[in-house]
Amino acid sequence: MLQLLLTVGLSHNLLASGLGGDHEQFVYTGFTGSKLILDDAATITTAGLVKLTNETFRIKGHAFHPVPARFRESSSGAVQSFSVSFVFGILSSFGDVRGHGFAFFIAPSTDLSTAFPIQFLGLVNDTNNGSVSNHLFAVELDTILNTEFGDINNNHVGIDVNSLNSVRSFTAGFYDDSKSGTFTNLSLIGSGPMQIWVDYDGNSTQINVTLAPLGVAKPVRPLLSTTYDLSGVLTEQAYLGFSSSTGLTTGHHYVLGWSFAMNGAAPTIDPTKLPKLPHLGPKPRSKLLEIVLPIASALFVLVIGILAVLMVRRHFRYKEVREDWEVEYGPHRFSYKDLFHATKGFKDKRLIGVGGFGRVYRGVLPTSKSEVAVKRVSYDSKQGVKEFIAEVVSIGRLQHRNVVKLLGYCRRKGELLLVYEYMANGSLDKHLYGEEGKATLDWGQRFRIVKEIALGLLYLHEEWDKVVIHRDVKASNVLLDGEMNGRLGDFGLARLYDHGTDPQTTHVVGTIGYLAPELVRRGKATTLTDIYSFGIFILEITCGQKPIKEDPQGNQLLLVDWVIHNWHKGSLLDAMDTKLQGNYHLGETGLALKLGLLCSHPFPNARPTMRQVMQYLDGDLPLPELLPAHFSFGMLSLMQNEGQVVDSSMLSSYPSPMMMSIGSISDLLEDGR
Ligand SMILES: Nc1ncnc2c1ncn2[C@@H]1O[C@H](COP(=O)(O)OP(=O)(O)OP(=O)(O)O)[C@@H](O)[C@H]1O
Ligand SMILES: *[C@@H]1O[C@H](CO)[C@@H](O)[C@H](O)[C@H]1NC(C)=O
Ligand SMILES: *[C@@H]1O[C@H](CO)[C@@H](O)[C@H](O)[C@H]1NC(C)=O
Ligand SMILES: *[C@@H]1O[C@H](CO)[C@@H](O)[C@H](O)[C@H]1NC(C)=O
Ligand SMILES: *[C@@H]1O[C@H](CO)[C@@H](O)[C@H](O)[C@H]1NC(C)=O
Ligand SMILES: *[C@@H]1O[C@H](CO)[C@@H](O)[C@H](O)[C@H]1NC(C)=O
Ligand SMILES: *[C@@H]1O[C@H](CO)[C@@H](O)[C@H](O)[C@H]1NC(C)=O
Ligand SMILES: [Mg+2]
Repeated sequence: MLQLLLTVGLSHNLLASGLGGDHEQFVYTGFTGSKLILDDAATITTAGLVKLTNETFRIKGHAFHPVPARFRESSSGAVQSFSVSFVFGILSSFGDVRGHGFAFFIAPSTDLSTAFPIQFLGLVNDTNNGSVSNHLFAVELDTILNTEFGDINNNHVGIDVNSLNSVRSFTAGFYDDSKSGTFTNLSLIGSGPMQIWVDYDGNSTQINVTLAPLGVAKPVRPLLSTTYDLSGVLTEQAYLGFSSSTGLTTGHHYVLGWSFAMNGAAPTIDPTKLPKLPHLGPKPRSKLLEIVLPIASALFVLVIGILAVLMVRRHFRYKEVREDWEVEYGPHRFSYKDLFHATKGFKDKRLIGVGGFGRVYRGVLPTSKSEVAVKRVSYDSKQGVKEFIAEVVSIGRLQHRNVVKLLGYCRRKGELLLVYEYMANGSLDKHLYGEEGKATLDWGQRFRIVKEIALGLLYLHEEWDKVVIHRDVKASNVLLDGEMNGRLGDFGLARLYDHGTDPQTTHVVGTIGYLAPELVRRGKATTLTDIYSFGIFILEITCGQKPIKEDPQGNQLLLVDWVIHNWHKGSLLDAMDTKLQGNYHLGETGLALKLGLLCSHPFPNARPTMRQVMQYLDGDLPLPELLPAHFSFGMLSLMQNEGQVVDSSMLSSYPSPMMMSIGSISDLLEDGR
């Protein structure tokens, strides 16, 4: 006996093992490396648990302590007191599907091959149920209600002797000492590891079975207590073991630890050293995760969604058109994104004007912080764009103090953006017609602007590498910078709409009132058609009147005709802008009016060149002696002579400024007849 106790601590799992004396005992804390006798489906898992069955239907599984215990001193003696304790766990495979429980038992042999599975729990068969020759004592942990064995419910603990009809059974649970012994139900399935104590007192033949969740101290009051003299049941030597079986449903029955003692309390099983029950199915999650996870994942999806939308929007918002041939113009190209930010997203607040070609916005470039005017021009012609961009870039190289610098461009689908220097004082027309409370210009300023624009146009026509035709000289395209210097803007843009040599498709581009008669007829812009427009511009700035004005009777007439009319009357100065209130230089105004008329002469050959215009304005060359008679009495009559009819009704139906095709003018003329 002493020697047996000395074996304590020899085995890792079986801390103490000694059968054969009247103080036999053993403890298993996990079963790794143990020498249990296993049959059928029973295995020891890698984690060290005894697993009695598997997923196969209608199988059994047994696990025995390898050595039988000696329950009686002799074959006729009474069964001695003994005590057993084990830690177990029952898991269901999925949902509420449950197997048929399992049992701890004491039997004379390890051969239970004739026992039945299913509800027989691998302990008996249908012929030997109840037979005294079984010498069987068992504690069943039953999870299925079998009426044939008189089960009370599907979650009970029972004391069985030779048969599966329990001597005593009770709903699984424990008398909780922490709640002054009130009964607390326990579900055998899925409640985590639990511990059972089976105590037999040989003197009083009392059997106690006590259940508690693992970690809870053995309750004072047992779950089941009965007296049954096992002396008539157990053989002198018998094996201790576990049994389980499956039917059409399976369960998972695990034993984590086990201890036994003859004539003494079963050694305690250290719960901290036990292997862990496996998790089946979805891992139980903490309440926190259950709440946080759905919210977090919803947020995540939302954020991803928003990002995707932003990226798609960003892609389309800043989408540009870029073609191979544009590579060489790279330095003149602006990114749409920069222009978008420069103009604060093309806000209405940044809109400075709307013209015949598109809208103009004020902007501040993000990198250089310089102020620019961005003009958005819509176009649909494919072929014109290439030539136009080439011209934009070549024009971009123009450098003259009286020309608004074109800084670059950007291209999108069906849209072109032109970036110009910003002119702080806007366009001249606003000053002439007193828009937005702008003070009208005095004569000195006006004459200076005429000279400056003449310089700018001279530069375009004669002083640069090649001849550049402006095509749209007019007051709204004369811009004033911060120091009120006149600068010519918007040149070349007309070309975007003016291409091809087929007269049927040729469009005249420019503004009604500024179009030279031969331009309307032949659709070909030349330096002389520019000079015609410049002449009209001089008259406009001098008279302070639009090129097409209304007479007191409400009839529309051309400013040129009106000036000629005044001249014929012998009072040319009546044409002067009344807002000047007579404050002007007589010589200069006479020169301006006459030069305006000369430049806008119906015969192209009668018009001076820009160099001559400059000389006249500077007084280096006297204006040729002109008489009113040199000018035909009215442009309209002249046009009629040329075989075209333009009457005032036609002009009135078209507010200025605008552009139109020769075709549409002819159509109108036909209708007008
Ligand atoms: N570089 C610039 N700096 C400051 N303001 C400008 C600039 N370019 C244009 N503007 C303003 O925008 C307005 C519209 O210009 P836009 O050129 O589109 O029309 P328009 O000159 O009236 O007609 P057109 O389309 O025939 O040129 C102008 O009247 C002017 O006030
Ligand atoms: C279950 O156990 C039976 C009987 O031992 C065996 O034949 C079968 O292969 C096992 N099944 C699995 C899935 O382990
Ligand atoms: C039942 O078990 C007993 C004892 O092991 C055996 O003798 C008998 O043949 C079994 N009956 C059946 C039907 O298997
Ligand atoms: C099993 O044996 C017990 C005791 O002899 C008996 O009361 C019971 O009816 C038997 N059950 C079956 C299903 O044979
Ligand atoms: C315990 O379970 C049994 C059987 O399911 C039931 O009848 C009883 O009311 C339960 N008791 C408590 C306290 O839940
Ligand atoms: C059974 O439980 C009762 C009540 O706690 C106790 O008095 C008795 O000693 C126990 N018997 C055994 C064999 O443990
Ligand atoms: C039975 O009780 C007597 C005294 O009441 C005691 O001396 C004896 O050891 C007990 N036997 C067992 C097996 O516990
Ligand atoms: Mg313009």
